[in-house]
Parts: sequence; structure tokens; C-alpha cells
Amino acid sequence: MRLPAQRRRAANGSVWLKYIVHDLTELLERARSDIAASGDLRSLDEVRVRLLGKKGAITEQLKAVGSLPVSERPAAGQAINRVKQELQSVLEGRRAELERARVEAQLGARSVDMTLPGRGQVSGGLHPVTRTLERLRTLFERAGFSVAEGPEIEDEFHNFEALNIPALHPARAEHDTFYLRNGTLLRTHTSPVQIRCLLEGKLPLRVIAPGRVYRRDSDVTHTPMFHQLEALAVDTDISFANLKAVLHGFLQAFFERELDLRFRPSYFPFTEPSAEVDMQCVICNGAGCRVCSRTGWLEILGCGMVHPNVLRICGVDPECCTGYAFGLGIDRLAMLRYGIDDLRLFFENDLRFLRQFN
Ligand code: DAH
Repeated sequence: MRLPAQRRRAANGSVWLKYIVHDLTELLERARSDIAASGDLRSLDEVRVRLLGKKGAITEQLKAVGSLPVSERPAAGQAINRVKQELQSVLEGRRAELERARVEAQLGARSVDMTLPGRGQVSGGLHPVTRTLERLRTLFERAGFSVAEGPEIEDEFHNFEALNIPALHPARAEHDTFYLRNGTLLRTHTSPVQIRCLLEGKLPLRVIAPGRVYRRDSDVTHTPMFHQLEALAVDTDISFANLKAVLHGFLQAFFERELDLRFRPSYFPFTEPSAEVDMQCVICNGAGCRVCSRTGWLEILGCGMVHPNVLRICGVDPECCTGYAFGLGIDRLAMLRYGIDDLRLFFENDLRFLRQFN
């Protein structure tokens, strides 16, 4: 909206300003009614462009200021800018109004029913091995044991030597060890935690050490990683009878029934005497079934009295202290408790399997 040429010519001093203010007042009035009349965001934007766009009315006014006498320019510029600001705020107000109306219309059209029930949330569950582990921990803590931990990357000293398994001992070959660099290895059992606890030098000891162990082995009943629980009690007067009592109490509590146990003489380098413990089959109650190979018995753990060499290496005098130890497979206990016949199911993460434990 350029000033008509004759008006510009006629304009001088404050007379010209009067013209400009008159023009602006008209422009503002017309713009207000255009803005109010625009019924949607799109037509509102067209109005905005006509007023404030590159070739819009206000922009043209501002350009024309340059052709006024220098003394008139500041007042003219201020007047135009005031109108510009006013227009901007009226435009913004209308835009917000239209936006709100649009959202309301959309919500109305879709009609949300607030009384419908929610979609429901499926909660996850703990892995059966984790559940078994937690159960074991609770039972042993109740019996006065505390929980100890050791590293999964071990050295030969803790995993073998201090457990009375010297370098060329045949037991080393049985462990199918994963060796790492600089003499380290993935622990093949949780027994090295016994050594770590004894070396701390605080007696008496009553600890369990659950955790992951690793062996190069893989079939229906073996996975390269599995879970063991180690137990160790060392004090001035510990006997095999204590060991029997603890095992009996624990297995009964774990399977929630009276179970017969059988101790078979066995050999472990770190215990003397050593035994393997069988319990009455929990599937057939001792009658004989596929799980117990028709024997009625399940081999469940290894145990014994801590070997004097082990105590000595750890700075404990075998003349004044004795101890018992045992080690069991957590995965195997989980299989028996939940009636699972393939160990690999635990580690394949098939959700159809895992969901059964939610
Ligand atoms: N460490 C043995 C293994 O992995 C299990 C074991 C047997 C642990 C006898 C013990 C024990 O503490 O006394 O085969």
C-alpha cells in the first residue's frame, strides 16, 4: 500500500504524518475484520502474508518511509511499527483460537470413551534359574550362612592350586577349562571362592557362593556356562555330622517334603573324606523313572571335609579348625523343581518357555 504519488508530493512536515496515520488507521481496521473473518488457519495465513509478507501492506509502508523528508522519517517509522506489532498480536491471538478449535473438533470427531478398560500391562517374570537362586539364598541365609562372591575370571592359583589340584593332576583335564590370556581362565567351579574367603582370615566361616561357572562342554545336560552354589563352613569343631544335618535340612526345605539322602564315598582333591550325595528321586519318589534312570536316586551334589592342605595353604591350622564344603548345580535343582528335562531351554531365551514362569 504505497502512498498515492500526489499525496506524497503534497505531504510536507506534520501534514504528511496526518495522512500516514489516517491510512494506517484504515488499514488496521480492515485488517482486524479480515483476521476475525478468516475461518481456518490457512485463510488466516493468507491474511498474514497480505499484511506482513515481503510485498505486504505494512512492508510497503515501511519501504515508503525512505522517500520522506529526513525529519519525518522517525515518527513515520514508529507509527508504522506500532501498527505492525498490533497486527502481529491480533494475528497470533486468532491463530491460537483457530488451533484450539481444530483440536477440539478432532477430539469430538473421534469420541474418546473414557470408561473403556485399559489395554492391560503384561508384567515380566524372573528367570527360573534366578528364582531358584533366590530361593537357595533365602534358605541358606535363614540357616546362618552369608553370601560371598568371587570373580568369574580367575587364576590358576585360586581355581586349581590352592584347591589341592597341582599342575599335572588328572582333575585339571576333567575341568575342560576355557583359558584366557596371561594365565587367567574362566572359573570352572565356584570352589575358588572358598579360597578367597579363607584367605580373608576371618573365622568362623559360614558362607555360600552362588554364581556362573564355565566349561567346554555342550549337550542335553551340559552348557558351556552353568550355575553352581558353593558352601563352606569352617570352625573349631565342625564334623561330617554337621554337613549331613545341613544338607538334609536344606534339601527338605527346598523340595518341601521329606526326602531320603544317600552318601556315596567319592573323591575330590579339595576334600577328605569326600562324598557324592544322592537324594530320593523327586519325580517318582524313588520308584524308578526315566529321570533317575530307573534307580530311584538322583545325584545332586559333591561334598566333604575341607582337605588339610587347603586349610594350610590359606593359613588356617588344620589342627585347630575343621570345615565342610559342598558344591551343587543350581540349574539341575531348577530342572528338578520345575520338571524341565533339557538344560539348554534355560539359555535359549525362548519367550514361550520363559513366560510359563511369570
Ligand atoms: N567343585 C566341584 C565341581 O565343580 C563340586 C564340589 C565337590 C564342591 C565337592 C565342593 C565339594 O565344595 O566339597 O565339580
